Amino acid sequence: MSSKEICPVRKAVFPVAGLGTRFLPATKVMPKEMLPINDRPLIQHVFEEAREAGIEDFIFVTGRQKEMLEEHFDYQPELEKTLESRNKTDMLKKVRDSEMPAGRLFLTRQPRPLGLGHAIWCAAKLVGNEPFAVLLPDVLMKGPEACLKQMTDVYNKTGGNIIAVEEVPDEETYKYGILDTDNPDDEIMKVKNLVEKPEPGTAPSNMSVVGRYILQPEIFKHLSAFETGAGGEIQLTDAMAKLIDGESFHAMRFNGKSYDSGSRLGFIEANIAYGLSDPEIGEGVKELLKQYK
Ligand code: UTP
Repeated sequence: MSSKEICPVRKAVFPVAGLGTRFLPATKVMPKEMLPINDRPLIQHVFEEAREAGIEDFIFVTGRQKEMLEEHFDYQPELEKTLESRNKTDMLKKVRDSEMPAGRLFLTRQPRPLGLGHAIWCAAKLVGNEPFAVLLPDVLMKGPEACLKQMTDVYNKTGGNIIAVEEVPDEETYKYGILDTDNPDDEIMKVKNLVEKPEPGTAPSNMSVVGRYILQPEIFKHLSAFETGAGGEIQLTDAMAKLIDGESFHAMRFNGKSYDSGSRLGFIEANIAYGLSDPEIGEGVKELLKQYK
């Protein structure tokens, strides 16, 4: 495919309708995606990543008790006025930077959390017939450049479908979606197969799929079969596996490190990592950690 024919990625889907059971009771009322890593909620981290990659339309797949997510990106006049009157210009800048551009936030609902694949299917009408990105808000990707930007750079050369992958220890492959490829040493690998949570000792590689995807709209055809997979849920990985034969499908080794902030340990690690690299509090966090050795 020549680069002229590649349709640019303008839309991103953020599935935020899950129950966040691993964080109960914190997530009894508050959405998991509002949990803060350093000074901003998970959902804002991924919004910023998508924005850096040139995404124009932001599609949230929400559910019950998730209204706080859309509120977060709204204009907050009282707050802004108060900050202005107190000359808190830095804070004001941060607040304004978390505002969604007018007319760019789209919401759809997933009435029941039937799985990630089902959540993405719920966005089909809003995505339409064009390629789109998917960002899981509970996975943060920290690197020299936004992960989705790294992916769109690859996509603009290859087209098709792209997933980000990262190496995990061999004994942990059973927890993840795992890549099968014939060229595992390359930066950009051809996807031969994807296996969701392989039995220990059967993983085709140690490269896990890490929550960032660029997909062609053909995926909706496979998702609409509503087939359940691992855990009785409608899995995105299963539908992606069906795209492999018909479509160009690549895996990109992400330059950076992922943080599974949907688990309690990963959440604490992410807060340490983002805190350490924050110019305002980094030194303080470093000093603090010395006390816990
Ligand atoms: P997770 O499986 O990590 O989220 O899905 P969860 O199910 O909310 O968490 P636990 O396991 O109960 O603690 C990754 C992302 O996909 C969304 C979640 O909101 C999360 O952001 N998701 C998951 C949906 O939108 N719908 C679903 O049916 C499942």
